[in-house]
Amino acid sequence: MSDALSPPPTSSDAPPSPALPSGAAATGARIIAITSGKGGVGKTFVSANLAAALTRRGQRVLVLDADLGLANLDVVLNLHPKITLHDVFTGKALLEDAVIQAPGGFSVLLAGSGMVEYSRLTPEVRNQFLNVIQAIAPNYDVILLDTGAGISDVVLFSISLASEVLIVATPEPTSLTDAYAAIKVLAMQQKRQHVRMVINQAARPGDGRAITGQLQQVLDRFVSTETGRGVRLIHMGDIPADPSVRDAVMRRQLLLLQTPGCPAALAIAQLANKIETTLLAPAA
Ligand SMILES: Nc1ncnc2c1ncn2[C@@H]1O[C@H](COP(=O)(O)OP(=O)(O)OP(=O)(O)O)[C@@H](O)[C@H]1O
Ligand SMILES: [Mg+2]
Repeated sequence: MSDALSPPPTSSDAPPSPALPSGAAATGARIIAITSGKGGVGKTFVSANLAAALTRRGQRVLVLDADLGLANLDVVLNLHPKITLHDVFTGKALLEDAVIQAPGGFSVLLAGSGMVEYSRLTPEVRNQFLNVIQAIAPNYDVILLDTGAGISDVVLFSISLASEVLIVATPEPTSLTDAYAAIKVLAMQQKRQHVRMVINQAARPGDGRAITGQLQQVLDRFVSTETGRGVRLIHMGDIPADPSVRDAVMRRQLLLLQTPGCPAALAIAQLANKIETTLLAPAA
């Protein structure tokens, strides 16, 4: 595996450090970025279903589609928003009118798709994004940012708004190599001292912990931060490969509503439990 995880080049134009160093904790919600190195590994599936599981536990949850240019949270949730973040950014709509209710009982802020203007991080996008997060944070206990994949400046900026980062990776070498690259950039440029991992589409129980351990070894060898402390990976859980997931996506339904007892849904519920006990105050 070490070969697959040889050190990648780092991007030079990403933002230097978190825009909100402690998320928006001081003003409300815990902000968790759900991100990945490689695309298509399950970020949107995890974001939407984790939101439903946390809502069920009594948390006030918002999912923000932070994949500004190629959003598809609306597709997974079968929503047809009339107003999107794009309308808020351009001043055509009020923020409160863009927040809509998803089937799992949580709130969502959806972005538009095919928005080429959001493929680059301009000062306007940066400010608008920051303003939206700061305005919305007091209303929720937790905000999940469903980010784009990779290490573009827009993705890194959206991650910088979060106090916690949850990397979704699959056991495939390509996914792990890209996860390594993303973690390295987060450690070097955002000075992240820890990053949380969830291994999706795991083949066997225990695989994710072993994979996280191997990734940690490569990071310890090749990545040292300014403080010399390196970056610590925290394994949050595994989600098994489960045919019910594809089925739910094809029907545009939440897995947690469609087949709550299937192995992947149970794993998401466990992940929500772990996130609540480690990162959130118990719901009132
Ligand atoms: N645990 C799983 N078991 C089986 N299939 C899965 C699982 N997780 C995800 N998938 C499949 O992977 C597909 C892609 O998932 P998803 O859209 O959530 O990925 P993504 O990381 O958000 O992609 P992108 O980078 O394009 O935003 C899903 O539509 C589903 O078919
Ligand atoms: Mg996605």
